[in-house]
Amino acid sequence: MRFFATAAAGTEGALRDELREARFREVRADRGGVHFEGPIEEGMRACLESRIAVRILAQLAEFEAPNEDALYEGVKAVDLSYYLEPKRTLAVRAACKDSRLTHTQYIAQKTKDAIVDEQRRQYGARSNVDLDDPDLGVFVHVVRDRATLYVDLAGESLHRRGYRKRIEEAPLKETLAAAMLRLAGWDRATPLVDPMCGSGTIPIEAALWARDVAPGLLRPRHGFERWPSHDETRKRRIAEMREAARARMKSEGPFIAGSDVSAQAIETAKQNAKAAGVRLHFSRAEVRDVEATEPAGFIVTNPPYGERLAGGEELYRGMAEAFRRLSGHTVVILAGTPEIPRAMRIRPMMEHTVWNGPIECRLFSYSIR
Ligand SMILES: C[S@@+](CC[C@H](N)C(=O)[O-])C[C@H]1O[C@@H](n2cnc3c(N)ncnc32)[C@H](O)[C@@H]1O
Repeated sequence: MRFFATAAAGTEGALRDELREARFREVRADRGGVHFEGPIEEGMRACLESRIAVRILAQLAEFEAPNEDALYEGVKAVDLSYYLEPKRTLAVRAACKDSRLTHTQYIAQKTKDAIVDEQRRQYGARSNVDLDDPDLGVFVHVVRDRATLYVDLAGESLHRRGYRKRIEEAPLKETLAAAMLRLAGWDRATPLVDPMCGSGTIPIEAALWARDVAPGLLRPRHGFERWPSHDETRKRRIAEMREAARARMKSEGPFIAGSDVSAQAIETAKQNAKAAGVRLHFSRAEVRDVEATEPAGFIVTNPPYGERLAGGEELYRGMAEAFRRLSGHTVVILAGTPEIPRAMRIRPMMEHTVWNGPIECRLFSYSIR
């Protein structure tokens, strides 16, 4: 079976490396995600293990779709009974590029019609549509008049690990925080500090990775658990996978800390870390007072930016001065404005574009002498 693990733009390389390290097969990065292959259980394992993937899609069919009839007939020919029964709900999402079919909503509608018409023919009943919490998510991508039909194994976006009970302003998605840590080249052993930690996403993801806690262990349930094919044998297999993941977990990790100027943010970060089952050091502090770690470690952070941020220049200047004092440390900053690298005034050893939702950001890494 072919899978496509979707990822935030700019994090595909990090996801490729992660999946290769976890011994997935035929791993190949593409725009917007990473391909891999294997039996259906490998897709389920990816839901459990990947920190960076947003969704895990299993490819069911690929066919020419130059017009709506071809799309309808192509979808109708696919047997979905393994994934969906009429008493379960459905949602279809579509994307298209360089094709004669140009309307994503229309493509989704046609695809849904073909699926439910075929169900009616087979069972005399059909699935209802539920856009908020469907039992099965179907994705159809039409590129250069060729349609690919996928089902979603994860159910909801994998960034929802389940530990973030509360969030602060402009929280980073857990999947992006995990990608940042990998792109930063952090070795999971040296100390790590986020001096503008908000809800604590970066320190929590760092602690989970350092201790090898599979992120899927924190999620109550995955999409594939609602499939009619999720029988006792499959349940046992998933339980074994979870058990193997639990057996790998380390009880200790390196020193990881977070601080923030907001007392409320620190309270939120503490609660989130508790929900994630990790012990971290959180304290209220100004970024300009950030201290060196012993041994010298990593600073990984995403400072605030945007129109509402008053006095940004002064904040960035103070932050940059503090960071430049941390000799021997590696400073990794996710910057949403060029003012941040300008304030740093030193040449980064790495610069990488990543998208934080709709916002184009740059990830800078500085080696402080
Ligand atoms: C973009 S948010 C970080 C979001 C965080 N990564 C998360 O996932 O929730 C920036 C954070 O910087 C904090 N901040 C703003 N000015 C600060 C300062 N002078 N010192 C320390 N923290 C500051 C804000 O309180 C906010 O929580």
